[in-house]
Amino acid sequence: MMAEEKKLLKVTIDNITIEVEPGATVLMAARKIGGDVVPPAMCYYSKLKDSGGKCRTCLVRVAAGSTADPRPMPKLVASCRTNVMDGMIVESITSPAVLEARKGVVEFLLINHPLDCPVCDQAGECDLQDLSYGHGTEGTRYEFKRRTFERIDIGPYIQLHMTRCILCFRCVYVADQVSNKREHGILDRGDHSQIATYIQESLDNEFIGNVIDVCPVGALTDRTFRFKNRVWFTKPMDAHRDCPNCKGKVRLWMRGDEVLRVTARKDQWGEVEDWICNECRFEKKKASDWIIEGPTKVDRHSVISQGHYVNTVKPTEVFSPIMNGAKPKLLMDIHTVSGVNNVELSEIDGPATNKTFHGDSHSTGINITDVKQGEGKNLAGTDSTNANTI
Ligand code: SF4
Ligand code: FES
Repeated sequence: MMAEEKKLLKVTIDNITIEVEPGATVLMAARKIGGDVVPPAMCYYSKLKDSGGKCRTCLVRVAAGSTADPRPMPKLVASCRTNVMDGMIVESITSPAVLEARKGVVEFLLINHPLDCPVCDQAGECDLQDLSYGHGTEGTRYEFKRRTFERIDIGPYIQLHMTRCILCFRCVYVADQVSNKREHGILDRGDHSQIATYIQESLDNEFIGNVIDVCPVGALTDRTFRFKNRVWFTKPMDAHRDCPNCKGKVRLWMRGDEVLRVTARKDQWGEVEDWICNECRFEKKKASDWIIEGPTKVDRHSVISQGHYVNTVKPTEVFSPIMNGAKPKLLMDIHTVSGVNNVELSEIDGPATNKTFHGDSHSTGINITDVKQGEGKNLAGTDSTNANTI
């Protein structure tokens, strides 16, 4: 007997109609269409069973439930948890109510999230940062103190900065479904909810490093990479190795020939393609450990594309030919006494300031990052590249 053909379901999202398999969610259907109609998703992760339904960023309006029952749904629904019905009509960016609701969700997510992007390791690849730019408002109406937590090293490789966590549950599902044991979870309720390990057990099982990749914010960071570089200054390269534990297909984040960080490769939705093991992620930090396939194709909308270097055409150097072979560095040959205001540049013992050039030719300032040297940790909830606070 011939296998019965599956009847595809018709769904229209923002006036674009497509057909999807039964069981598909509205979010999956929108991703099939692609582009701006795809709702943002901070907790759903297609590779993690049961994920979704926690953050409400993927809200859409169902203007008609199905051909059989064309009534609109009374409230906005989470597209990652709403199944497509035949004849369903959905509004994503075409609904002012949806756009307004997303703004509200961003405002709620930021109530307790510190605005420390300039010193956060996740900056440049943070889903919450992108979400705030794309869907947030300029200000917040929240007047109370944000809740803060001490940073904790959970195991030798991972640091938890709970202050930044948005309780999306992804890391909990990774520990449950990808690694062979889970020792952390979300404890307590309401405002007290937090990701915590069971009596500070370290998360040291073989695949636990993947929690770093799924975390949409900078709450779980790689201790072998923390504060080493900004992501847009690094060169992402696809590489692989013959690994006994995982497929060994990774992305190397390099500076020159140095491997600063190893992560899993991510697809266009920012989701991991293949989970990688801790050995590949944390212990193979030499370029010679890997077979490098070539530069990662970076989406031009990503800030990481700022350092994109594929097919770079360098301008022809014209200095030497017109200066009879002199090298440009000669220009930097600063004389011991500056011709400007008689400042003795070789004698001042720090960065020059306004005062140096206005009367006091020996005056110097201090570098802003040195101000806190020796003053111990920053206040809870803040972060810094200052060595004293790491
Ligand atoms: S630590 Fe990160 S991945 Fe885990 S729940 Fe918080 S935001 Fe989500
Ligand atoms: S992605 Fe749908 S609720 Fe979070």
